Amino acid sequence: MSDDTEVHLEARLAEQDEFEPPESFVEQANVTDPGIEDEFEDNWPEAWERAADLLDWETDYDEVLVDDNEPFYEWFVGGELNASANCLDRHLDDRGDEPAIEWIGELGETRTYTYEELHREVNEFAAALRDQGVTEDDVVAMYMPMIPELPIAMLACARIGAPHAVVFAGFSADALAERMNASDSEHLVTVDGYYRRGDPLDHLSKAREGREQVDGDVTTVVVDRLGEESPADVAGGEHVYGDLVEEHAGATVEPVTRDAEDMLFLMYTSGTTGKPKGVKHTTGGYLSYVTWTSHAVLDVKPEDTYWCSADIGWITGHSYIVYGPLALGTTSVMYEGTPDYPDKDRLWEIVDDYDVTQLYTAPTAIRAFMKWGPEYPDRHDLSSLRLLGTVGEPINPRAWKWYYRHIGNEECPIVDTWWQTETGGMMITTLPALNTMKPGSAGPPLPGISADVIDPSGDPVEAGRAGHLVVNKPWPGMLRTLYKNDERFINEYWDEYSNPERDQWVYFPEDGAKIDDDGYITVLGRVDDVLNVSGHRLGTMEIESATVGVEGVAEAAVVGGDHEIKGEAVYAYVITEDGQEESEAFREEIIAAVEDAIGPIARPEQVIFTPELPKTRSGKIMRRLLEDIANGDELGNTSTLRNPDVVHDIQQKVSSE
Ligand code: WT7
Repeated sequence: MSDDTEVHLEARLAEQDEFEPPESFVEQANVTDPGIEDEFEDNWPEAWERAADLLDWETDYDEVLVDDNEPFYEWFVGGELNASANCLDRHLDDRGDEPAIEWIGELGETRTYTYEELHREVNEFAAALRDQGVTEDDVVAMYMPMIPELPIAMLACARIGAPHAVVFAGFSADALAERMNASDSEHLVTVDGYYRRGDPLDHLSKAREGREQVDGDVTTVVVDRLGEESPADVAGGEHVYGDLVEEHAGATVEPVTRDAEDMLFLMYTSGTTGKPKGVKHTTGGYLSYVTWTSHAVLDVKPEDTYWCSADIGWITGHSYIVYGPLALGTTSVMYEGTPDYPDKDRLWEIVDDYDVTQLYTAPTAIRAFMKWGPEYPDRHDLSSLRLLGTVGEPINPRAWKWYYRHIGNEECPIVDTWWQTETGGMMITTLPALNTMKPGSAGPPLPGISADVIDPSGDPVEAGRAGHLVVNKPWPGMLRTLYKNDERFINEYWDEYSNPERDQWVYFPEDGAKIDDDGYITVLGRVDDVLNVSGHRLGTMEIESATVGVEGVAEAAVVGGDHEIKGEAVYAYVITEDGQEESEAFREEIIAAVEDAIGPIARPEQVIFTPELPKTRSGKIMRRLLEDIANGDELGNTSTLRNPDVVHDIQQKVSSE
């Protein structure tokens, strides 16, 4: 394309703020009936049967929703099913020889698991887990990177009715131990190591270090990923995954019948306090919900090659790499590596090689692609793509349009999907064949989802004004509670707005948002002390507690500052104890402590030593002010501070670094 045409196109796109679903997409889409909105409205909650109908039930449910004990809602009550049977067994007749998982390793090696093969290995590993003493309702922790054994282990657990608790492999040993202890988990599936940018990385030592801090005995299974290059040998008492599967070759395990409301898994996520929350998801409601949204929003069809580039260690991977896509019998791509290794066209090479039909990724990745430039996607044929998606944080219109044009060639709808670990699946997004897209705005709530933006007194805000996002009705994929902590569950999500006066239940996701005249919601970001770093959710309290744990630190405040690629970055303001030198070495020590407590994703961008923190007269740290300082923004009124002079000192320190 000539430079002139290019400039012309960019200018046209820059001005356009509404986009219609491409005709070629609409013609073949799963959901095209505009009446769906009314159907959900007029026939709520029964309309949710649509989602449940996408699954195979061993026993039909008696009631769609039981809501007489809010906020402890129950969905598809009386129904019985097994998640692994829904993701595997029921596809064997029609799709047994078709790929379920296309795995691409960091070193470029590949593995294909057909539904038949995946079913076989899941059965074998399920039999092995049983032999290890895992029984129904035992929580099995998994601490693994993006290798096929992770979804296999998840589905094996689902098969025997043992909930899994997957811990992101980038989390530290301490984080693993904390989650295993909190979930009473006595079983661990992990890996010897994995590759990053071509180099082998020891993971087993980290897993062991975590396991040592777990109360009680832990049975351990180790996947051999590195072979000869393994830096740590499997030791006495640990089992090698490959050996177990071999010993159980050909074994079959009947899928255990699970009640719709039985726990499918736990997923720990950050909240306002230092302690991660154990979000509980169920077999019937969650599986129906992610299957329905994969069908309606991602437009997944069995013959697709669908790719979600998230990590299975987060909820996105659970819902939209494993459960949703496999329940629909499609081919799900799994990529172990990073987008810029061996080169910055890695993702586009994979799209081209595998004829990927949908790509679901995060704004942080899109911002990086934009920075690298269109020459990387331009090297490849991306015409197999039919739909694009984003999730994890707000996407700015410029990045949206770049994605639309340079990846989607203006022929793919983009779904900007707002949701959370707690919601299980997508909540606010356009339906790709039905709704106009407005870059920067996620869209309307999905049919059947009732969301609004309200002011502090609980009334809806005017169009264009910022307020708090709330969800007013339950939905099948919602969390049921926080593991063994109903009280925290109620306090965290309901207290604020569900006051008895208004007598209405509302779920508060802790996000700020705006709504426009068409009911499109633009999510602005968290209103609590939770950061979003590259789409990863981190609690400032967790980072603060790691920081103050370092000897020589008297006090610390952690806030998020703007970051071009990551969205937000961690800024740690630290007051040292008397006599502690404010040296580079000490700064490194603090950074290392944060990495040890949480993981490299929480690594502070800057550690700023300061003699004081800005505090209100009542002694509360003014976090907003610290954010403004980190961003180099103009500061608002500082007269309410007890110590206004400190602000200038801190500003100088930040700008000199
Ligand atoms: C938080 C949830 C949903 C899976 C990945 C993150 C932010 C998520 C969007 C979006 C604006 C978004 C919110 C939310 N978020 N998607 N499309 N637009 N913000 O799950 O770790 O539970 O984080 O991510 O702030 O509360 P999570």
